[in-house]
Amino acid sequence: MIDIDRIRADTPAASRLAYLHNAGAALMPAPVVETMKRHIDLESEIGGYAAADRESARLEAVYGSVARLLNTAPDEIALTENATVAWQMAFYALPLRAGDRILTAEAEYAANYVAFLQVAKRTGAIIDIVPSNASGELDIHALERMIDQRVKLIAITWVPTNGGLVNPAEAVGKIARAHGIPYLLDACQAVGQMEVDVEAIGCDMLSATGRKFLRGPRGTGFLYVRRALLQRLEPPMIDHFAAPWVARDQYRLRDDARRFETWENNYTARLGLGAAVDYALNVGIRPVEQRCRMLADRLRSGLGSIRGVTIRDLGHAPGAIVSFTIKGYEAEAIVSSAAAAGITIGASDPSSTRIDAEMRSLPVVVRASPHYYNTEAEIDRLIGLLTDLVPR
Ligand SMILES: Cc1ncc(COP(=O)(O)O)c(C=O)c1O
Repeated sequence: MIDIDRIRADTPAASRLAYLHNAGAALMPAPVVETMKRHIDLESEIGGYAAADRESARLEAVYGSVARLLNTAPDEIALTENATVAWQMAFYALPLRAGDRILTAEAEYAANYVAFLQVAKRTGAIIDIVPSNASGELDIHALERMIDQRVKLIAITWVPTNGGLVNPAEAVGKIARAHGIPYLLDACQAVGQMEVDVEAIGCDMLSATGRKFLRGPRGTGFLYVRRALLQRLEPPMIDHFAAPWVARDQYRLRDDARRFETWENNYTARLGLGAAVDYALNVGIRPVEQRCRMLADRLRSGLGSIRGVTIRDLGHAPGAIVSFTIKGYEAEAIVSSAAAAGITIGASDPSSTRIDAEMRSLPVVVRASPHYYNTEAEIDRLIGLLTDLVPR
């Protein structure tokens, strides 16, 4: 059971705001903020290099924390400045050629898709979109049918940015493994919201961010790369940390996933990320997942009774991102009305998930994303506000 009072005491802004924007950037718990303040103070007292030296054990422990979160080993983790850089490092390292096929899903995130387009333009690789089933999830049978010798990558988003859909990441992993195809999973909106076990999923590469459901600081992210693949991937860009300069005309890539990192880093943010992961593990990911779903389901059921509301979430068991539109109201106007009432929610633009948005003719959708530190009363406040907004 989650001790909500204790959790909310660790989250002071939660008493002032109904904060339902965790798919954007969640509120950091106090231990994360304190960890970062301490390190900034230390840097200001003894200098950045000495501070990193003094905290080297804690900095090293961040890899262990992220590895525990994902059920893997620290040497398979690279720390990055966001999820996009993590994903790019993996994707651009893959040797794609003319005619190679990339299989992706309908709700793929914009940053990933434009990278597919760039590589397709440069190399002649082909992007193929796996259709969704009747409930809106990636259709596993269609994926199986699309596999052939030319498929050189399966790259999908587990939980898209624009709604509650949870794609069948594990079933995709089974197919990728059976056919020996590299599998890159964007888990940006999944980490911190649900159990993420790279062994159970069977992905070879996984990217995520710190600031969303993990409740870490902005400017943090990480990449997991399976050891067997790691040794074969040359990062698209390297520096002398990723690949020490061992002779005048020679570099040697590091053996671990840190070959995808660079020398200079924001150590304050890294320590904050580590504290956020430890905090999440302490609360317990399973109870977090249950509570997120309970709150999101409560919101969906309340929204369902408001005139003019269309819930836009896909999938048979949607997660903690609740997306909807209200007939006659712009999403931005709804977000502003909520803000004026002390309720923080967001919006998702069609260009973030263009294929899905075009297929469903989606306008900008309102995105409300509760987390375990929210209460039923906060959900009901949002439902009440929207009920009052729409004339009966
Ligand atoms: C599904 C998904 N993937 C990737 C990203 C990019 O994450 P970041 O902004 O940390 O690079 C986002 C951000 O919203 C996202 O929702």
